[in-house]
Amino acid sequence: MFEPRVALASLSGESDAEWARAGADDAGAAFLGGIALDGDSRAAARELVERDRAEFLPEDPLAFVAAELDSLADAPVRPAVNVRSTTLAPVREAARLCADRDAILEVNAHCRQAELCAVGCGESLLRDTERLGEYVAAAAEEGADVSVKVRTEVEGVDLVETARAVESAGAEAVHVDAMDSEPVVRDVVEAVPDLFVIANNEVRDRESVREYLDYGADAVSVGRPSADPRVLRRVRDAVEEWFAESAGSEESNADEVSR
Ligand SMILES: Cc1cc2nc3c(=O)[nH]c(=O)nc-3n(C[C@H](O)[C@H](O)[C@H](O)COP(=O)(O)O)c2cc1C
Repeated sequence: MFEPRVALASLSGESDAEWARAGADDAGAAFLGGIALDGDSRAAARELVERDRAEFLPEDPLAFVAAELDSLADAPVRPAVNVRSTTLAPVREAARLCADRDAILEVNAHCRQAELCAVGCGESLLRDTERLGEYVAAAAEEGADVSVKVRTEVEGVDLVETARAVESAGAEAVHVDAMDSEPVVRDVVEAVPDLFVIANNEVRDRESVREYLDYGADAVSVGRPSADPRVLRRVRDAVEEWFAESAGSEESNADEVSR
């Protein structure tokens, strides 16, 4: 999906192409957005702005997505776009834009703000895996690599089931905000070994990186400190150290077997 195995995670209203470019030296992917694509999700985002949250509310969200992705065409980072929508058609269109630019389309099943959940976006999709699967399938049909951003600690939601559902709908990746339940990453990795698992929440240093990679995550992501180059460098170094060690131990295991 991307190298190095460090992603910049969406921060609504902040994570645009300029932000991605600023972090590109130490990240393999950058999740722009979240961007509200249709009328109802945009109305919810407007309500969030009214209570002082930063949101992207360009006049034409799909044109915005295309322009942001195009401006990253020469950047050394794989772009991704985190989307919210109450309807399938704009997800399809965004996925087509992503597919044409080798970008990842990420379905947001993560945001917990009441305004977004009330219109059926964000975290509410975790309770409606059928509809979540429809978004994933629609985006995958357009040829985009699809990721689904999820969070743990949502009552009545078993992320292992969610991960199985999105994989069978055609997702390539699941981006897990593990909150204070880090071992859920291991459960997801064991249940859906073919999904690319990006572990998120409080990834800041060697210890937090190693914890998630030891659980089997394929990559980690950084949200709140994603504009801090010291954090990104530290995380990248720790990720590369972990993968170098694991390649070394695989080699010595192979030597043992061949002897
Ligand atoms: C101000 C703010 C805005 C966010 N906006 C989004 C968003 O639009 N979409 C999304 O999937 N996650 C969003 N997140 C969640 C982050 O991507 C990330 O999952 C979370 O902050 C935990 O990671 P961290 O500990 O590295 O910050 C947002 C987080 C913050 C603090």
